[in-house]
Amino acid sequence: MGNLQPRVLVSEEDIKKRVVELAAIIERDYAGADEILLLGVLRGAFIFLADLARELTVPRRIDFIALSSYENGSNFAGGVRLIMDSRINVTGKHVLIVEDILDSGRTLSYLLETFEARHPASLRSCVLVRKPGQQVEVDVDYIGFDIPDEWVVGYGLDYGDHYRALAYIGVIEPDVEADD
Ligand code: IMP
Ligand code: MG
Repeated sequence: MGNLQPRVLVSEEDIKKRVVELAAIIERDYAGADEILLLGVLRGAFIFLADLARELTVPRRIDFIALSSYENGSNFAGGVRLIMDSRINVTGKHVLIVEDILDSGRTLSYLLETFEARHPASLRSCVLVRKPGQQVEVDVDYIGFDIPDEWVVGYGLDYGDHYRALAYIGVIEPDVEADD
């Protein structure tokens, strides 16, 4: 596992363009804000957040949170739980949660609920990719790409912690890497 060449789904070029577009939209939406807090969800969002944060010019702080995650790429969401909290107190802050992927919707809905309870000045979410068919209804404010329901890797996204550093978003064919 980890040595196969995933099929390109979203190219490096297209990601770059989209990140610039998203930053412009976010910039416009937060025009009046004194500062925003970008809250990246580890580990999948680290590259997206790094690129997005550098395209923005609105005053911004960056922090990370970590959640319990899927087991080795299987499709079991289980109970989502915060295993590393933000160090910055979000109360009264304009919080933008930055996540890698929206699948069932459980992760993001859990996060929105959790952080809303802390009374931020505003709370929005930005996901790099969205798969179809959320099982939980969730409000997402910014979406990079809508993609088909396939396991994607690269640009932060992983399969068993492999492939995160790929510059593009790709698909690994499940049959091919089953032998590890
Ligand atoms: P949700 O709670 O079902 O929306 O799942 C979101 C989380 O599942 C993401 O933060 C990812 O860690 C993981 N995930 C779901 N689909 C994929 C995928 O295709 N590639 C990599 N990670 C995925
Ligand atoms: Mg994740």
